[in-house]
Amino acid sequence: MDDYRESHKSIDKPGEYDQKFWTPGTPEYLFWQIEQQILEDAFDSRSSVPKMSLDFACGTGRVLSWVAPKVEKCIGVDVSTAMLSVARERCPSAEIIEADITRNSAVAAGPFDFVTSFRFFLNAQRELQHEALDAIRQRIAEDGTLVVNFHLNPFSPTGVYHAIGSRLVGSPRPVASTRKARRLIEAHGFEVTKVRGYAYLFYRRVTLRFPGLATRAENALARWNLVPWLASHFVVIARPC
Ligand SMILES: C[S@@+](CC[C@H](N)C(=O)[O-])C[C@H]1O[C@@H](n2cnc3c(N)ncnc32)[C@H](O)[C@@H]1O
Repeated sequence: MDDYRESHKSIDKPGEYDQKFWTPGTPEYLFWQIEQQILEDAFDSRSSVPKMSLDFACGTGRVLSWVAPKVEKCIGVDVSTAMLSVARERCPSAEIIEADITRNSAVAAGPFDFVTSFRFFLNAQRELQHEALDAIRQRIAEDGTLVVNFHLNPFSPTGVYHAIGSRLVGSPRPVASTRKARRLIEAHGFEVTKVRGYAYLFYRRVTLRFPGLATRAENALARWNLVPWLASHFVVIARPC
């Protein structure tokens, strides 16, 4: 597999990537609304209010824009100049650093109370996953909270659909089950405290056919969190141990 560090460096990437999260009626908009609720729950469940936060692989500053107003100091790191140019506009109060913290331990040294990383670990190659978790573990405070998302679970309806599709066309997509994600994170000195599933239903279209219905169903399923291992997307919440 190619190095995921290079994946978002083209100047067209921010445009291709970002817009769907801010466009009502798309599945990504719906998932982003649920992710904000999950972030809020993780933030509020802490015994003390986080002061320092780090968003690893912050891209265009989506998650950063949620965290930045809630903390005293918020840092976003990424290796793509193009993605970070959008993040700088979106999050004027955050410190945005173009650097690879997996290769430079002096940058954004922490300690951070609240660390996020969304839409990174699924697609990063194995070696980079490990390097990133080592870099995060070095920087997280001993009572810190790690919030990481994965966005294609092979046991979800969407995961099964993609597995069949990729067998037919012969190009497999990366997938991660909740079990695999837990093991990965626990192998780096973390204890997983919760897994929150969302994106349970199957969407083939770029826009939702019945947005009101899908929103109500997905919100209820995400809130109940009865079978997170069946959700296409999930968030792992962990603390250092
Ligand atoms: C799919 S984007 C996710 C952006 C953002 N976290 C979000 O959820 O909207 C993945 C990001 O990972 C970044 N990335 C890849 N390797 C990285 C590394 N070693 N350090 C920091 N960022 C990295 C890419 O440049 C890209 O912006």
